[in-house]
Amino acid sequence: MKILGIESSCDESAIALVETNAHNDFGAILHQEIFSQFDAHREYGGVVPEIAARHHVEILPKQIESTLRAAKIDLGQVDGFAATTGPGLIGGLMVASVLGKAMAMVHQKPFFAINHLEGHALTARLVASDDAPVHFPYMLLLVSGGHCQIIAVEGVGRYHLLATTLDDAVGEAFDKTAKLLGLGYPGGPAVEQAAKKAQNPNQFPLPRPMMGKPDPNFSFSGLKAAVRRAAITFSSDLQTSMTEMARCDLAASFQNAVCDIMVDRLAVSLKHYQTIIKQPPSQLVVAGGVAANQALRTVLTQFCADHQLRFTAPLPALCADNAAMIAWAGLERLRLGGAGDSLDAKSLPRWPLSSLTPPILNESMR
Ligand code: KG4
Ligand code: ZN
Repeated sequence: MKILGIESSCDESAIALVETNAHNDFGAILHQEIFSQFDAHREYGGVVPEIAARHHVEILPKQIESTLRAAKIDLGQVDGFAATTGPGLIGGLMVASVLGKAMAMVHQKPFFAINHLEGHALTARLVASDDAPVHFPYMLLLVSGGHCQIIAVEGVGRYHLLATTLDDAVGEAFDKTAKLLGLGYPGGPAVEQAAKKAQNPNQFPLPRPMMGKPDPNFSFSGLKAAVRRAAITFSSDLQTSMTEMARCDLAASFQNAVCDIMVDRLAVSLKHYQTIIKQPPSQLVVAGGVAANQALRTVLTQFCADHQLRFTAPLPALCADNAAMIAWAGLERLRLGGAGDSLDAKSLPRWPLSSLTPPILNESMR
């Protein structure tokens, strides 16, 4: 089974052709293309929705052609089409949706309206193998530019929210810290690079909001405010006058605080997972753009060793937004007998993962 996936919910234009592996539960990427629109948005210091949507219109059709050429497949051989229809920026979501629906209609194949977060949640299964399997259920740490959640993943379309952020997403906190320190855009990788050059990564005693509390949720606004205050002590003209060393030390102090918060929140969520799934987790999966962060991956590896959990982190390139995860979410639904979604399916700027349901079965599978 093969599905063509389309992702354009933010500033990545991406197309992928993915198939199920005949020998196990997992998948294989036949070809994928990802174009990050960083250059188009850099001068604004963040994503401009209208510019992003216009770029998606230009880029995605070309990516579809080159993906089919590279995989030596024509559209008639594809078993279904999957497009991100939320959550995200409405202009970009509409572009993916119209493209996916048009191809599904012309080729008389199912259309899957995919939740972007479900794509992140299931990516680890796409790239799993017999040696490193990812079976349901598992505990998921979903850390991206728009979300920071801990989820019990019971199966396709069966997601139980254990913890979420009360204010900013963790990727947003990285991006704001980068802006404050004059490190540029995109912020997460820039903070990570600066932190690597720190001489005293604990120079700044930053707060760890929510840490130690039985409530498993996250909060980053206090940490963000503290980074701002620490930076201001150097000068009122932060970006030019802060020394390179102070900037790197502050980036590292921030990153350490984030890592401490993640581990603490995961520890609190373990018992909530057990209450819902009726057994302790055996595997932790991390997903979303921030999962590319090496310092975070290192502390999560240790956390899993301490709690007898298997740890799975997809390759950094598959943690960031991509279309392979969207095609894969469609495949997971198709092979369970999912009939696909209506061509009237709406694009939804807000669409919580926990509101999803398992696939609606095809007549023949009932
Ligand atoms: O999942 P993603 O690509 O897009 C969303 O769905 O939001 O995540 C993007 C976020 C951005 O906030 C970006 O700064 C952050 O992931 N990010 C990182 C790293 N790479 C990307 N944060 C920390 N360290 C990184 N290496
Ligand atoms: Zn994402």
